Amino acid sequence: MTRSRFAGRTALLAGMVWFAMETLTAMPAAICQSPASEATHSRPLPAIAEKDGRYALMVDGKPYLMLGVQANNSSAWPEYLGKVWLAAEQLHANTVELPIYWEQLEATPGKFDFSVVDTILKQAREHHVRLVLLWFGTWKNGSSHYTPEWIKLDQDKYPFDVNKDGKTVDSPSPFSPARLEADKNAFRALMGHLKRVDDQRTVLMVQVENEAGEWGGVRDYGPEAEKAFAAQVPEKLVTGLKKQPGTWRQVFGDDADETFQAWFIATYIEQVAAAGKAEYPLPLYVNAALRDPFHPGKAPSYESGAPTDNNIDLWKIAASSISVVAPDIYMPEYAKYMKTIEQYKRKDNPLLIPETGNAPAYARYVYAAIGQGAIGWAPFGLDLSRYSNQTEGPEAMEANALKPFARQYELLGPIEGKLAEGNLEGKVKGTSEDPDNHRQTLDFGRWQAVVTYGMPSFGNWMQPKGNTPPDGGVVILELGPDEFLIAGHHARVDFDPTFAPGKKRLWLKVEEGSYDAAGNWKMARIWNGDQTDYGLNLKSDENVLLKVRMTTF
Ligand code: DGJ
Repeated sequence: MTRSRFAGRTALLAGMVWFAMETLTAMPAAICQSPASEATHSRPLPAIAEKDGRYALMVDGKPYLMLGVQANNSSAWPEYLGKVWLAAEQLHANTVELPIYWEQLEATPGKFDFSVVDTILKQAREHHVRLVLLWFGTWKNGSSHYTPEWIKLDQDKYPFDVNKDGKTVDSPSPFSPARLEADKNAFRALMGHLKRVDDQRTVLMVQVENEAGEWGGVRDYGPEAEKAFAAQVPEKLVTGLKKQPGTWRQVFGDDADETFQAWFIATYIEQVAAAGKAEYPLPLYVNAALRDPFHPGKAPSYESGAPTDNNIDLWKIAASSISVVAPDIYMPEYAKYMKTIEQYKRKDNPLLIPETGNAPAYARYVYAAIGQGAIGWAPFGLDLSRYSNQTEGPEAMEANALKPFARQYELLGPIEGKLAEGNLEGKVKGTSEDPDNHRQTLDFGRWQAVVTYGMPSFGNWMQPKGNTPPDGGVVILELGPDEFLIAGHHARVDFDPTFAPGKKRLWLKVEEGSYDAAGNWKMARIWNGDQTDYGLNLKSDENVLLKVRMTTF
């Protein structure tokens, strides 16, 4: 990999507004730095830009599409990092998500050891990738297993949740002022350190905690929690949700216990996030262990109090220092994947998929995610530490497990900035193969792109039969009224003119090519004849970028 993936693209877009949490105020169309960065840094702070409810992650002042990978939980140690960078390189990922372990950072209370953070930053730079750091603090997958020993050993001071029967649950209680202070202090130290050592802006975002919530109980029933549950619902929440005042039970009925837990976890995390952000205002996000989008059931059949789809509004009200509530998508079914995207892509919430499954079936979803405006996407656990989190799959991830993802990133990497910029402008659409529907359409107004799967390269008189397995996908960027950039795999793309009823599309020019480091298009050849007569066939094992211009006849 070379530095060129971060190199020159035209900068800012007319009318763009920086997302509130990064800079606090709307700013004019220019590269804006937050006050915290002005004194010491020359590069602008990573930020999230917003335009008409669409988003882009801004890196070095330009829209950036995170084609990421998350390492396994225990891979962010200096001895193992080599296996992470190697996988990232083979994947053609531009961003690596790595945990920072509280137990390592503050093994002794008040003494911070930044040596691992510094090693991670140094090696990331050497390997020309950006970072998203994951703060494994009070919560990790609903438990608290990354807290330092001095916290684990003092459970009176740092209590667990207690269930209805008075039994301790393996989940930290949000009613622990001492742990909240300790977490704030540690996160503040981490963010302050990043501010001091990261002039290069290697770190783009930070995830605050990991899949916070409670497994094994719906809420904390400890003495402090019980007092709070008997009290009135805080006015901020009642007003924010446009409810009538009352106790938790009065306001939320059957959902009171879960909502209560969500509020106090989100409020706790907001305080941690705000403490860190005051030091160094990088974009911050939380990630969610999801519930089934069609058959959600009731907590605690899913993680209670988590930022699940039913609680996004609550998390937005409680945690204004958090810019993104992000879904971890481990559901390979097309309908569930798309429904989850729909739930988390909101005008007030950028779409970010910081974790998704690493089985081959997930690879194609990068197209749908980008097409729905994602600022980033990352399969989980694709490193070469020889561990696999698949329940029915290999015991250890091997290099060949990277291939389905690598081919997508290799294709999309050189145009990531164009896609991110196009998304902010509303010019990108994309889709992933639905095994139950072999023909999909993408509506660009004047033109409707028609994507079919399972067609041969020659002929258009047959019905699409789908791919086995369904691994196709396409992303299309509108370059002009009748001009498009197309990237994809294992699909046929054609267009219908909606502005000219009764007419058909006529290719003016179909160019195969690539962009150079300065962003200039270099044509390699013109497709015509058999290559275009029946539509544009994108193969499963070839990386082809096409620039097309059309008219009608
Ligand atoms: C989701 C968590 O956020 C990850 O850290 C990891 O535990 C995966 N689940 C499962 O491998």
